[in-house]
Amino acid sequence: MTARKASNRDQSPGVNALAALERNANLLRGRTGLLGLSLPVLPAVPSAAPPLVITEHAGVASALEHQGGCRVQFGYQLPEADRRSLDTLVIFVPKAREALTMQLALASHLLVEQGLVILVGEKREGIAGAARQLQALAPAAEKVDSARHCQVWTARLPVAEESFDVRQWVRWHDVACAGTQVAVAGMPGIFSDGRLDEGTARLLETLAEIPVRGPVLDFACGAGVIGAWLQSRFADCGPVDGVDVQAQAVFCARQTYDRNRAGGRIVASDGLPEELGLYQTIVTNPPFHSGVRTDTSMTETFLRQVRRHLQPGGELRLVANRFLPYRELIRAHIGPCEVLSEDRRFTVYQAFREKTARGRAR
Ligand SMILES: C[S@@+](CC[C@H](N)C(=O)[O-])C[C@H]1O[C@@H](n2cnc3c(N)ncnc32)[C@H](O)[C@@H]1O
Repeated sequence: MTARKASNRDQSPGVNALAALERNANLLRGRTGLLGLSLPVLPAVPSAAPPLVITEHAGVASALEHQGGCRVQFGYQLPEADRRSLDTLVIFVPKAREALTMQLALASHLLVEQGLVILVGEKREGIAGAARQLQALAPAAEKVDSARHCQVWTARLPVAEESFDVRQWVRWHDVACAGTQVAVAGMPGIFSDGRLDEGTARLLETLAEIPVRGPVLDFACGAGVIGAWLQSRFADCGPVDGVDVQAQAVFCARQTYDRNRAGGRIVASDGLPEELGLYQTIVTNPPFHSGVRTDTSMTETFLRQVRRHLQPGGELRLVANRFLPYRELIRAHIGPCEVLSEDRRFTVYQAFREKTARGRAR
């Protein structure tokens, strides 16, 4: 596999885990797979053939596809031909416990009999709990290294009798806000699985009170709750397109829209894709985490770019934790910014793309 440049060894999430894996490169044998890679970087470890990289991050998937040297799978729905095709599978510890349960089930499906699973992750990412999960499945699992704040564990999993099908991991729940209820698909690892996020609820309340005009885009749409709710609430809303970086979100948003007979495209993208059209309204409960760390950079980039996807006079409606410093950015990049609602935890902002005195957009 292609070695990383030394300059990539910074504090980005996933860097330590890659380094810990490279220290244990001798464990990787035969056909290999990497599950849950959060950086567009292949570790310098041996592989008999280009490794299979399974990632839930659309940006990582497209960067690796562009770079080459591996076979990329975005999300968890793999072709049946991949069943029992790997000798070694590395799992980078995910944030959510249930996501690891799903990944271990996928590992049992992908590995040949006596194939090796390698679990690697940082302490602050929860490697200790993840290792206990692994041991529950494979009691002979052992810790083989501790380095770079990470642990490396190996195990041989029982081979799965049944095929892995990502659809079996979808769970449904109803959420209601301001008197409108929608069915929402959930899946391990997705944002706010099984419940309506408090920030999203604050945003929906303002949407009930001060409706928006279409066409609408929901940036960072998660399971599609905002788009489905808007279309259930307002018969004349029209389709609501959604964008999200995460494979489970894209999958669930499509399911949520279909179940609620909602219209709109769901696009997998890291940030706003260039080819998106112009919208009268962009609504968002944007991300502020990268792995387990607080990270507002994705939202700051979004705020710098969003103007070019708003029609002149178009509206941005955004909810964020109160402590996050978005007001000035909104004012600088979109236009005058109002606070529509604020409580102890959340602020809902509204801003309109300004027009010039002659009615043209600035
Ligand atoms: C706070 S959640 C909101 C989800 C949904 N809108 C809701 O209200 O339930 C933020 C979402 O942003 C997505 N996300 C994170 N980084 C992103 C990026 N760079 N581009 C697009 N979406 C991103 C996450 O996958 C997550 O679904």
